[in-house]
Amino acid sequence: MVKPRQISIFCIKVPCFNRSIVILLLGIALCQFAYAKQDTAYRNGMVVSAHPIASQVGIDVLKKGGNAVDAAIAVKFALAVVYPNAGNIGGGGFMVFRSSQNEYAALDFREKAPGMATRDMYLDETGEPVSRLSLDGHLAVGVPGSVDGMVKAHERYGKLLWKDLLQPAVDLARKGFPLTEMQANELNRRKESFKRFNSHGTALINEKADWKAGDLLIQKELAKTMKRIQSKGRRGFYEGKVAKLLVREMKDNGGIISLEDLKNYEAKWREPVANDYRGYHVVSMPPSSSGGIALLSLLKSVEPYPLSHWGFQQDSTVQVMVEAERRVYADRAEHYGDADFYPVPLAGLLDSNYIHARMQDISFERATSSESVSHGKPVGYESEETTHFSVVDKDGNAVAITTTLNNSYGSLVVVKGAGFLLNDEMDDFSMKPGVPNLYGLLGGKANAIEANKRMLSAMTPTIVTKDGKLLMVVGTPGGSTIITSVFQVILNVVDFGMGMQEAVSAPRFHHQWLPDNIQPEKEAIAEDVRARLEAKGYQFVQRGNIGRVDAILVKADGTLEGGADHRGDDTIVGY
Ligand code: DON
Repeated sequence: MVKPRQISIFCIKVPCFNRSIVILLLGIALCQFAYAKQDTAYRNGMVVSAHPIASQVGIDVLKKGGNAVDAAIAVKFALAVVYPNAGNIGGGGFMVFRSSQNEYAALDFREKAPGMATRDMYLDETGEPVSRLSLDGHLAVGVPGSVDGMVKAHERYGKLLWKDLLQPAVDLARKGFPLTEMQANELNRRKESFKRFNSHGTALINEKADWKAGDLLIQKELAKTMKRIQSKGRRGFYEGKVAKLLVREMKDNGGIISLEDLKNYEAKWREPVANDYRGYHVVSMPPSSSGGIALLSLLKSVEPYPLSHWGFQQDSTVQVMVEAERRVYADRAEHYGDADFYPVPLAGLLDSNYIHARMQDISFERATSSESVSHGKPVGYESEETTHFSVVDKDGNAVAITTTLNNSYGSLVVVKGAGFLLNDEMDDFSMKPGVPNLYGLLGGKANAIEANKRMLSAMTPTIVTKDGKLLMVVGTPGGSTIITSVFQVILNVVDFGMGMQEAVSAPRFHHQWLPDNIQPEKEAIAEDVRARLEAKGYQFVQRGNIGRVDAILVKADGTLEGGADHRGDDTIVGY
């Protein structure tokens, strides 16, 4: 299996005038050394995130006596500085938490539609969608939830002081951090788009030349915003100077978020969704994410079948997974939405009899056609960027957080004077039945735009336990592929006996009902398997990388094995 990416810190030229950066790099070099020897077993804690510096920030918090939630908060704010594609304060996300006492909580800090949002706001006079209106620029922005989410997480579980958890983010923004090669390339690619939406300029644009690996990205305005959040908490973002700057940014450019929207935003504690799979207990995110219900439905759909006997990515295994995905994504389009606004039939969707009945008509001779698969009728009807990180502390507290601006760098809008990127999460609503969003996902009434409603997400932060003991913390970015990636990683461990890194590195494939095709990564699904499945009517469309899973496994001897996705700069740090 491919080894996780080794960070390119060693080839970075370190400016000798900046001592703190040198210290940071030395720290990373040391942790890299530790990482290379990770088989020698970490027992005290682990952070796996999309950026080496953010992972190191989290471990430092654990070493200072912070718990997994403290570490997660520090990582979340650090990512908003060092991973601007997706780490954010201008977006939202979800957290699933498991305490050392085996209690669970789920926190929904998803963005909301502004109070002035309307169902048809992205359609022209003829009722057709206006190209990219829900994706680029000011009208694409949902009311951000990340800051209130972290405040609520800290109020309930934090042990260390809020101001100390914010300090690394303040420092990284003020003093700068060295870009990885991947980051430099991505920022260069977006240069013209950033200019288009930020005529005032932004720290993300290098006016003089192209960015290269090792260049320091200094974000002074962002540092000031982080300082305000550090000293004032929630009020430092949703009221006062930062709120005014955000609303000014909106007013000057045709956006609709108001001071009232910001003041009224509240992250919400929710009851996690949970079910058993082959004796393992899987706990995940309820609406406004579709992730948990869809993941649990997929696992229940395949449970009756002998996947481990058939083997990893063998004909029948792939068939059963794809047929389950086809049916679950059809249900998602019809039944899933923000449960505060729409009566999502949660119990009905998760009912084992319902799920097994949905799988009853699958044939091993012939692919079902998605045209012939519609959503089911569950009972009880009353009612390309994201980032995931996983944290485990020495007591067995565990945090899974997936957070996003939606696609890379969100709406591309940086708030003038406040230096942070805003999301384009409004595209996750269904703007019109039959019109797919960026990820090809369809929807209807359940996920139609309404003022103050949360748009449906696929984010699937998930925790798995066995006999009451922590087993795995897992999640990933990837839009519609998030759910199927988490599904595959769990199967890789439970059914195919892989370790954490192997399960994360293993090639993946995706199916989402419509379009009716299997989308394999380069190495996924051997050619002979593919040929036989094609003969049965399955269509294949090759695609690039799927997701960036960052996960932690507690092994039988109690040591921690990280899985950092080689598809990005993702890094394990343990101690
Ligand atoms: O919430 C969602 O489902 C999407 N906004 C996630 C977007 C995403 O994962 C992009 N990453 N590659």
